[in-house]
Amino acid sequence: MAMVCLSDFEAYAKKYLPKIAWDFFAAGADDCSTRDENILAYKRIHFRPRMLQDVSVMDIRTKLLGTEISFPVGIAPTGFHQLAWPDGEKSTARAAKAMNTCYIASTYSTCTLEEISAAAPGGLRWFQLYIHRNRAVSQQLVQRAAASGFQGLVLTADLPYTGKRRDDVRNGFCLPPHMKLKNLEGAFEVCKMSLLDPSVTWNDIYWLRSLTHLPIIIKGILTKEDAELAVRHGVQGIIVSNHGGRQLDGGPATIDALAEVVEAVQGRAEVYLDGGIRKGSDVLKALALGAKCVFIGRPALWGLAYKGEEGLQEVLRILQDEFRLSMALAGCASVSEIGRHLVQFSKL
Ligand code: FNR
Repeated sequence: MAMVCLSDFEAYAKKYLPKIAWDFFAAGADDCSTRDENILAYKRIHFRPRMLQDVSVMDIRTKLLGTEISFPVGIAPTGFHQLAWPDGEKSTARAAKAMNTCYIASTYSTCTLEEISAAAPGGLRWFQLYIHRNRAVSQQLVQRAAASGFQGLVLTADLPYTGKRRDDVRNGFCLPPHMKLKNLEGAFEVCKMSLLDPSVTWNDIYWLRSLTHLPIIIKGILTKEDAELAVRHGVQGIIVSNHGGRQLDGGPATIDALAEVVEAVQGRAEVYLDGGIRKGSDVLKALALGAKCVFIGRPALWGLAYKGEEGLQEVLRILQDEFRLSMALAGCASVSEIGRHLVQFSKL
């Protein structure tokens, strides 16, 4: 079967993954309105393409906090990669390195931070943190991440409690006994995700800052008010995200929240986005609305489910080719030429 677009990987994953794993990856909160809206919202945005621009030489590279990546798409943090492929996050790290892009490894990885680093030495990696009630556990994770070469710390802000994902409740979802949340072994019981600290506030960014010199990126911001607070608390990056629609159902699509955040930030931090990116033209729309880079969650899992490291590379390569083509057809030869002038919202 020829894999032509990301939906092909989705169809493969749905067909071949065990139902409980597929349901966990696909889940949105409640009736999944926000999850679905993340994708639908792109269809309401149209291009204003420019013609007769010289697009014979294309430059799709960009920089994340000063580090060059091959194109503006990275891998969002998602848990439990061994549910998709036996080598789990090690394969993810290798694919990201091979494609010269950024991989954000989740607290809920099924490989240790050290294993992930060793699998792809020198690759650009950030570590995503959930703050646990036992602060010593989180502190150790932050220190281990820095020691093993992770270059950024991503604090996920939108999960004081886990959203209600109906299929996971119905399936009684938990990790199979042979898989472990390796970074939290001993500190955490896999089926009881209640050890997350719901008392976390903005002040905890100061606590994180006292633990590490790594840049801090905050993930899960959807409003100008929180964007302003994030900048005031000194973060270097903001990921506009609704957790792939897995937390509060009824919130905005991330692409609809992006412009408000970008406007509030005024260049004082880098702004990224995740949620619903399925085509190269989605990436172009997000960049036109001010994102410096986007991240993919579920499509990376589909790539892993297809063929591990190779499958994920294929997903990234397809997105890269589609992004380059969309840019050229819109009249942009380099990422620096992408701007707000390139898009319009359809009149409803
Ligand atoms: C996630 N996401 C997530 N986020 C995070 O900060 N830490 C995590 O451990 C996880 N785990 C996770 C598991 C699965 C199965 C999914 C689908 C998502 C959210 C993720 O980082 C990202 O915000 C969304 O996945 C982006 O939406 P798309 O690309 O899946 O549409």
